[in-house]
Amino acid sequence: MKVKKNIPLCLPKLPTTEKIIPYLKKIDASRWYSNQGPLLKEFLLRMAKLFHIQPTQITTASSGTLLLELCLKAMNIKKNSLCITPAWTFVATPLAIINAHLTPVFVDVDPVTQTIDPLQLEANLPHLAHKGEIGAVIVVAPYGMPINVKDWDNFSDKTGVPVIIDAAAAFDTVLQLPQMRVSKTPIMVSLHATKIFGVGEGGMMLTTDTALINQIESLTQFGFKNSIRNAESLGTNAKVSEYTAAIGLAALDSWEKTRTAWEKLATQYQQLLNMLEIKHLFTHQWLSSTCNIIVPYQADAIANTLENSGVMARKWYGDGCHHHTVFKSALATELPNTEYLRKSTLGLPFYLNINIDDINTVIDQLAIACAICA
Ligand SMILES: Cc1ncc(COP(=O)(O)O)c(C=O)c1O
Repeated sequence: MKVKKNIPLCLPKLPTTEKIIPYLKKIDASRWYSNQGPLLKEFLLRMAKLFHIQPTQITTASSGTLLLELCLKAMNIKKNSLCITPAWTFVATPLAIINAHLTPVFVDVDPVTQTIDPLQLEANLPHLAHKGEIGAVIVVAPYGMPINVKDWDNFSDKTGVPVIIDAAAAFDTVLQLPQMRVSKTPIMVSLHATKIFGVGEGGMMLTTDTALINQIESLTQFGFKNSIRNAESLGTNAKVSEYTAAIGLAALDSWEKTRTAWEKLATQYQQLLNMLEIKHLFTHQWLSSTCNIIVPYQADAIANTLENSGVMARKWYGDGCHHHTVFKSALATELPNTEYLRKSTLGLPFYLNINIDDINTVIDQLAIACAICA
């Protein structure tokens, strides 16, 4: 009897031990294990160079979620004021808002860009202000899809409302696209193991606002500033250890190679999905570590059919944040596009070194599932 093979959804791939060892040896020699050590400094310098920014325009923390929270805190936004954010995001976004003592308000996204439209939000601000004082906005670049950073700089300038861009999955998009070039509006990029550039756990914040970078950095270190051991603000411990920096440096050593491998995989998928005439989010302009298809109102049914045939699939944003237990009574506007997206967006198996037979199985089973669910 043929044993059914399961094809996982995601299989992260960080640098091998062999590639990390030279950096670990440096840690052995320096006996510097955390607290802004030499490897973290080297990592920041090399990242700044890669993103064509100054080293003063980047900082790191132990997770992207914490960076969102600490950035809101660094912006000194009035306690309990509203923070507007899409319901169409991973739950980390509104959790960071709550942990920064603000109140999330879920708004709808554009059905094509899957993100908040800045002009529409600007027009809706007076209406949203009826719900309370507006303190901030967190915009999300879903699955690494692009947004226009300058548009959000302009939104902030015009309205006086500070904005953060949650670009958790957009490492490569920020690198590749001029419209995502680092500017005043802070951009958070996650370095979680599942992302296209991963270190295990970690995140980075990028902005030309160096005072904001300083303040976030201080909050990651108990509120200490400039190595003076005096807590100036209510910080926490969100530092990145030298071990994480070692993985990051090894990942930087092989980034070009890693990117080429992701690109090859994305091109293969893109061609096969195009042949099936299934809508997807791939483009040739940027890469991310997930493969999302758009199957109008069929995401759940197709996911179930695929899983029964051993192909794992997942709605990466689940049913949207407003359907999570803790956010069921959260403030929200009407969310018709989010409702459409949650029923229509599905993630397929997508990871480095997936073999061609498995890709073909995914595509064959997808064709069958689409036919069954039609
Ligand atoms: C949109 C979004 N925001 C925030 C996060 C949290 O990032 P981290 O896992 O680095 O805390 C994620 C993680 O996938 C995400 O998808």
